[in-house]
Amino acid sequence: MTAILDIQDATVEYSTRGTLVRALDGATLRVEPGETVGIVGESGSGKSTLGLLCGRLLPANATVTATRALVDGAELLGLDNEGIRRLRRECLGFIPQDPVAALDPTMRIGRQLALALRGLPTDTASLVARLDGVRIREPERVLGLFPHQISGGMAQRVVIAMTMARTPRLLVADEPTAALDSNVRSEVAKLIFGLATEAGATVLWLSHDLRSVGRWCDRVVVMYGGKVVEDGPAQQVLEHPQHPYTVSLAAADPARATPGERIRTGSFGVAEVAALTRAEKR
Ligand SMILES: Nc1ncnc2c1ncn2[C@@H]1O[C@H](COP(=O)(O)OP(=O)(O)O)[C@@H](O)[C@H]1O
Ligand SMILES: [Mg+2]
Repeated sequence: MTAILDIQDATVEYSTRGTLVRALDGATLRVEPGETVGIVGESGSGKSTLGLLCGRLLPANATVTATRALVDGAELLGLDNEGIRRLRRECLGFIPQDPVAALDPTMRIGRQLALALRGLPTDTASLVARLDGVRIREPERVLGLFPHQISGGMAQRVVIAMTMARTPRLLVADEPTAALDSNVRSEVAKLIFGLATEAGATVLWLSHDLRSVGRWCDRVVVMYGGKVVEDGPAQQVLEHPQHPYTVSLAAADPARATPGERIRTGSFGVAEVAALTRAEKR
């Protein structure tokens, strides 16, 4: 089987005013079609850089080297501009952290959605059906609104509708619920994984929320200092973290603390989260 993503020894350096920051430092990751992979790690560990690399979407101040960087069998770093555009269009989907920033503030939702559908039906009934598909209420009305007139949760649903309309084979979701109100986070996560499963898409879920990762992902990849330091079945990584960083990450996950309870140190309680998340999945 061809891996949907096969990155070997990737290094990314950002240069800002003469200073180099090494964001990826020999990262290696192979993902098979249909996997749901949670990529976790503290802020600055290189998660977003890895996600952007998948679409060769890194900013101009980034320098990339890799032994191999294949998406669906195509060598990312060797594609010409038309090739990378086609790969993005036909194979990749991105859901960003800030949906409002991803939308054009000057354009009504309906028009943006129609533009994103490229080649698919864009009559009003079809647009309404797209918004219905991401459980937006009063879709006809929403089509006529501007991004600043809808909530963050709704904006993220619009972005999800745009992204999933093209049935991406690899969906990269970069902390897609982090900027949303806590009451809609789990709904939006459920929506993304539900649609991805329906479409047979592979999901890279970049997050530092172990609870959502444990609930939705089959596999957990832990990043630290631009490297993959741990990688395995979600249950195994969450229940028996090996790398010291994973142990502390799991132990410090604030989602696990019940109100009034102090966050514990050490790995105590990780098994409980894993059991809980397994129960929630059913
Ligand atoms: N555009 C950029 N220019 C310069 N440095 C950057 C840029 N983007 C990210 N970095 C740096 O690269 C490192 C990894 O960042 P990032 O991939 O965003 O990690 P994460 O998503 O895990 O928080 C950090 O040190 C960050 O400051
Ligand atoms: Mg990030």
